[in-house]
Amino acid sequence: MADKNQTILDFITEYNSKAITPMHMPGHKRNIAAANYLTALGGGYDYTEIDGLDDLHDADGIIKDAMDKAASLWHSKKTFFIVNGSTCGILSGIRCATSYGDSVLVARNCHKAVYHAIELCGLHPYFIAPAVDDSFEIYSSIDPVEIEKALLAHPSIRLVILTSPTYEGVISDINSISAIAHSYHIPVLVDEAHGSHLDHCDYFNGGAVNGGGDIVIQSLHKTLPSLTQTALAHINGNLISSSDFAYELGIFETSSPSYLLMSSIDGCVNLISKQGRLLFDNWKCNLQEFDNSMRKIKKLKILCHGEDSINNHTCLYKFDRSKIVISTKDTNLSGTALMHILRNNYKIELEMASNTYAIAMTGLLERPESLDILSRALLAIDQDCKAILSSAALSVPPIPPMKTTITKALSCKGSIVPANKAVGKVIGEYVWAYPPGIPLIVPGEVITADFLQCVDNYYKSGIPLKKTFSNNYNGFHVVEL
Ligand SMILES: Cc1ncc(COP(=O)(O)O)c(C=O)c1O
Repeated sequence: MADKNQTILDFITEYNSKAITPMHMPGHKRNIAAANYLTALGGGYDYTEIDGLDDLHDADGIIKDAMDKAASLWHSKKTFFIVNGSTCGILSGIRCATSYGDSVLVARNCHKAVYHAIELCGLHPYFIAPAVDDSFEIYSSIDPVEIEKALLAHPSIRLVILTSPTYEGVISDINSISAIAHSYHIPVLVDEAHGSHLDHCDYFNGGAVNGGGDIVIQSLHKTLPSLTQTALAHINGNLISSSDFAYELGIFETSSPSYLLMSSIDGCVNLISKQGRLLFDNWKCNLQEFDNSMRKIKKLKILCHGEDSINNHTCLYKFDRSKIVISTKDTNLSGTALMHILRNNYKIELEMASNTYAIAMTGLLERPESLDILSRALLAIDQDCKAILSSAALSVPPIPPMKTTITKALSCKGSIVPANKAVGKVIGEYVWAYPPGIPLIVPGEVITADFLQCVDNYYKSGIPLKKTFSNNYNGFHVVEL
């Protein structure tokens, strides 16, 4: 009988001590002395589905027990471990909740994984654009009223897809959105890639599992102590079948899942179960200290930290206080300049920077001294920079009109046209800044003057845009329908 409290790592550690001859994959045979780069990478713990180690794709042993523990920690009906990132969970979730060609309601500020799922599933997206917060030039929360309006206007919609929290920490009212969607028997998929730390303590709340999301996808590695690529999918309610979701994981997820990654998810779940209260309290205290120190900031602005509060942002439902979003908008610095100063003068590496803001991400195992170093640096930079009167720049174009589906546009013949001849043409490629990976335009949409203006603003501020097919700044891949 397997010991239900044994973690995957415990099992492997014990197994390693038995000196069993491994006549199976992986090919390194855990002979890490002969390939010593594997020592630092944990190669001695890199296993395959041997007796006792269960099978991620048909779990009924140690992996199932580990996933059940995660489900009870997050209070979900069923939780799946994922080793291909939230990307894999999003692809699986969207395909599981729709049939080919269905209509879906999609928040425009979704990650590219959502767009790729739409493309693969031949879906017809109705977009909903959250209001843009003018002071920080970021998308704010999705208004539940807009969800209801869209569901009423388009009865063919089969799934609601949104991101909460966003990369910038903006949380939407998942309780209200789920209640509305459920009243039409429509499930809600929440990309909670940035929110696996929500609802484990009162300081970080607004999580989507508690809020009634039917499929909630989380990247553990973004804020919690787990290896990169690890994610969870939580299935709730009665609108989504767990076995349908498992079928999709069988398509999108590797058939050779890494036990290093699974052990890391399991370890993370155990750490939170056993020491979560203390760790979350420490994180909260460190952030509160940071918050207080930011009250002295005069020219830079930190979203919902220091003197800034959620009351200044009427379209924000909630904010994830683990995120530090620093606006440089009213100063002579750009977000990217701030990032360079922090890197070069203070040895601080940020998560990302755009023209008018930069993001510092914190995590459950944040060292108190890191926030102290950051706050001292920000105070010094704030003293040195100059206040200016900012002018509004177009950072997100209004959603361009859609002529055909993403899938159809990508299958059409196309050519590159210069920007000055592109207005009115149907684009056959995505254009986005990465991070955050939110498209400015998607295949099938019509190129507008606003879109071109926005592209120009990005280039002028030195932020590279990614395009699927055309590499040059001056041209776009357009298609004939
Ligand atoms: C909002 C959002 N969703 C999904 C993803 C994809 O997550 P992963 O990299 O774990 O596949 C990201 C990645 O940055 C993201 O920012």
